[in-house]
Amino acid sequence: MLNSKLSKLLQKAYSAEKAAAYAYIGHAGSLNSSTKKKEIKVIENDEWNHREEVLKIMNTYHIKVSKYYEFKYAVIGKFIAFSCYVIGWFMPYFFAGKLESGNVCEYFIILKYFHKTGIKSHDKELYEMGVKEKEHEDYFLNEIKDSKLLPLFQKLFFWGKSNSYNDVNLNELKSIENSNEYCKDYRKID
Ligand SMILES: [Fe+2]
Ligand SMILES: [Fe+2]
Repeated sequence: MLNSKLSKLLQKAYSAEKAAAYAYIGHAGSLNSSTKKKEIKVIENDEWNHREEVLKIMNTYHIKVSKYYEFKYAVIGKFIAFSCYVIGWFMPYFFAGKLESGNVCEYFIILKYFHKTGIKSHDKELYEMGVKEKEHEDYFLNEIKDSKLLPLFQKLFFWGKSNSYNDVNLNELKSIENSNEYCKDYRKID
C-alpha cells in the first residue's frame, strides 16, 4: 500500500490529465489553422497517454480513481475548452503554458515520493511524463513569445519567458538517476 499523500497525488494527476485533454480539444477547435490544430491534437494525445500511464501505476497499488477529482477536473476541462472560443487566441496558449509549467514538477514530485517509500520501478515513466510536460510548456511559450501581451501577462500571472514553475531545461536534461534534483523549490500553483 502507498501512503495517502502519494495515492492522492496519483489520483489528482490522473484526473487532471483528463482536464488537460478536454481543454486541448476546445483549444484546437477554436483555431483556424489546420497545422496548429494538428499540433494541439498531438499534445491532447500525449495527455490521454499520460492518463493511461498513471492508471497503470495506480492499478499496481489498487488505488481507485477518485470520483470527486474525475468530476471536478471534467468540469474544469470543459470550462476551459468552452472559454477558448470566447477569450481570443492569446489566452488559451498562455494559460496552457502556465498549466503545463506546473505539471512538470507534479511528476518529479511523485517520483520523489516513490523514492521515499523505496520504490524505483516507476522512474522511467514518471521521468518521461515530466519531460513531456516540459516540451508542452516550451511549445506554448514559443507560440506566444513574440506577442505584445506576453510581458503584461507574465507580470500578472508569474509565468512567461523568464518565469517557470520548474527548473527543467530540455537543452541540458539531467539523467533519470539525477532527476530527483529537480523541483526542489517547487511551488504549488493551484
Ligand atoms: Fe500530461
Ligand atoms: Fe501536458
